[in-house]
Amino acid sequence: MPQNSGKIFPSAISWLRENKCYFSAELNGYTSPPLGPYLSTLPLIDRGGKILDLGCGNGMLLSFLMRFSAHSLRPYGVDINVAPIEQARRVILPKYKGNFMVGYLTDFNFKGSPFDIIITNPFYVHPQQAGLYIDKCWDNLNKSGRLILRVHDDMLKKHKVNNISSLPYLKKLPCRVARGEGLALGIIDK
Ligand SMILES: C[S@@+](CC[C@H](N)C(=O)[O-])C[C@H]1O[C@@H](n2cnc3c(N)ncnc32)[C@H](O)[C@@H]1O
Repeated sequence: MPQNSGKIFPSAISWLRENKCYFSAELNGYTSPPLGPYLSTLPLIDRGGKILDLGCGNGMLLSFLMRFSAHSLRPYGVDINVAPIEQARRVILPKYKGNFMVGYLTDFNFKGSPFDIIITNPFYVHPQQAGLYIDKCWDNLNKSGRLILRVHDDMLKKHKVNNISSLPYLKKLPCRVARGEGLALGIIDK
C-alpha cells in the first residue's frame, strides 16, 4: 500500500462512484464501479512512463491509474470491441486518442519504444496462444518494466486455476502473486 493510501482511496472511491455511467458489460465487463479490482491494482503502479492495457475496454482503468497513482503515465490500449475503443478515444482519454486500437490481442503489433507497464490477462487469448502472448508482452517491456496480470475470480473458477504462478508459461518468469479484491494479481518485474 502506498503511504498516502489513506488519503487517495476515499477520493478514488468517490471518483469511481461518480463515473459509474462509464461501467457496463459492453464497455468494460463491469456492471458497477469495480472498487475492489481497481483499488487492488493501484498500489502496483509504482512508476511512470508508457502504460499499455491489453484488453482495455473503454480505458477507465487507465484513466483511474493516471488520476490516482501519483505517477505520470502515457496510456495505450487495445480491445477487440469497437464501441469501447470509440469511447476511450472520444470521451475518456481524447488527448491520447491515437494510442487506442481495435484488434485481437495476439495480433497487436508492438512498435515504437517498449512499455514501462503492461497490464493484461492471459485468459483473454486462446490457451494455446497464451504462452507466446505472455512472451511477447515480456519482450516489449523496457529493461526495468513491469507486467501486471489481472485475473478475475470468475475466470480463475472457470479455468480451475488456484494459483496463477502455476500456469506453465509463467514458471520461467519471476512472477509474484498477490490477492486483490475479486481478482488474482501476477506481478512480473524485469
Ligand atoms: C474485464 S474487461 C477489462 C477492461 C479494462 N482493462 C478495465 O479493467 O476496465 C476485459 C476487456 O478485454 C477485452 N478482450 C478480451 N479478450 C480480448 C481479446 N482476445 N482481444 C482483444 N480484447 C479482448 C474485452 O472486450 C473487454 O473489454
